Amino acid sequence: MKKTTADVLPAEGGLGDTPLLAVEDLHVEFHTRAGVVRAVNGVNYTLNPGETLAVLGESGSGKSVTAQAIMGILDMPPAVIPEGRIRFRGTDLLKLSDHDRSKVRGQRIAMVFQDALSALNPVFTVGWQISEMFQVHRGMSKRDAMAKAVELMDRVRIPAAKQRVNDYPHQFSGGMRQRIMIAMSIALDPEVLIADEPTTALDVTVQAQIMELLGELQRESNMGLILITHDLGVVADVADKISVMYGGRIVENAPVHEIYRNPAHPYTKGLLESIPRVDLKGQELYAIKGMPPNLLDMPSGCAFHPRCPYRQDDCVSDSPQLHVIGGARSSACHYWREVLDGGNE
Ligand SMILES: Nc1ncnc2c1ncn2[C@@H]1O[C@H](COP(=O)(O)OP(=O)(O)O)[C@@H](O)[C@H]1O
Ligand SMILES: [Mg+2]
Repeated sequence: MKKTTADVLPAEGGLGDTPLLAVEDLHVEFHTRAGVVRAVNGVNYTLNPGETLAVLGESGSGKSVTAQAIMGILDMPPAVIPEGRIRFRGTDLLKLSDHDRSKVRGQRIAMVFQDALSALNPVFTVGWQISEMFQVHRGMSKRDAMAKAVELMDRVRIPAAKQRVNDYPHQFSGGMRQRIMIAMSIALDPEVLIADEPTTALDVTVQAQIMELLGELQRESNMGLILITHDLGVVADVADKISVMYGGRIVENAPVHEIYRNPAHPYTKGLLESIPRVDLKGQELYAIKGMPPNLLDMPSGCAFHPRCPYRQDDCVSDSPQLHVIGGARSSACHYWREVLDGGNE
């Protein structure tokens, strides 16, 4: 591993063996009056250029908090990061000064949020909002920046971009507004794009179009893309690999097709069986029984044990570590072999 120095901005250019982004043993707590909320409890994932990582898990599993830690937009306090590293091109972002961090945020690592309507300013035209990125960060003239805004609106396939650049956010549909947000996020050619549930507020056909667009932009620019979702159904065609989160930890990492064919964690298996399937129409959907863990008072042993059909005594006492089970796959289940054997085939 390349030796890194704190307070030095991540290098540009070739990466060698260094991952583009590596989250290592990340912990995030919120110190609240009710107690310490353990939102992220040792997350590990890596991302390379041109790769799409889907981060999957029920609401409250720590997906967004992990992303906010990467972006450096957590309010600290109440958030505390007691342990972990976020290496971007080998440099630990957690060790950078605020000034250096702000040069990475939005420019080299960018983010798209779920709610495009509240993220856009209703009183400015979309062209103004996109062009501001170029004026502020690239020192462009107003006129040049506006031309770049039209170019970007074209790139995210907004029809009649030249005419619509002077329209206001409310004049666009939800899907088009999300395209505008995506245009703003890629304006400065980031190396990593994090999309946090970018399609949750949209209807199904528009969801698919936005996913397709993200995939296209990623291929054109060779970005690393982190796609956060609670819906396994939407990422199958776009993602290269999947990290499944539960209770603030990664419980399974796998290449996308292997996880669909044969999950190695009971939680992943439950999520897969919860996807509606056309061929099983009329049958009752399997849903994972029980509730997500209370992050103020985590269960002993494996956090999933109270809901797990594979539970044995040691699951209540010993927390299973995420370990490699072959190839690019890892699972945090003592009984991953049994889960695999009873797979979906
Ligand atoms: N500012 C905060 N104060 C206290 N708890 C928080 C705060 N932000 C997030 N959390 C908690 O952290 C947990 C993980 O949240 P989040 O990462 O947003 O989940 P998700 O997987 O749905 O994106 C949740 O239980 C949430 O309530
Ligand atoms: Mg979230």
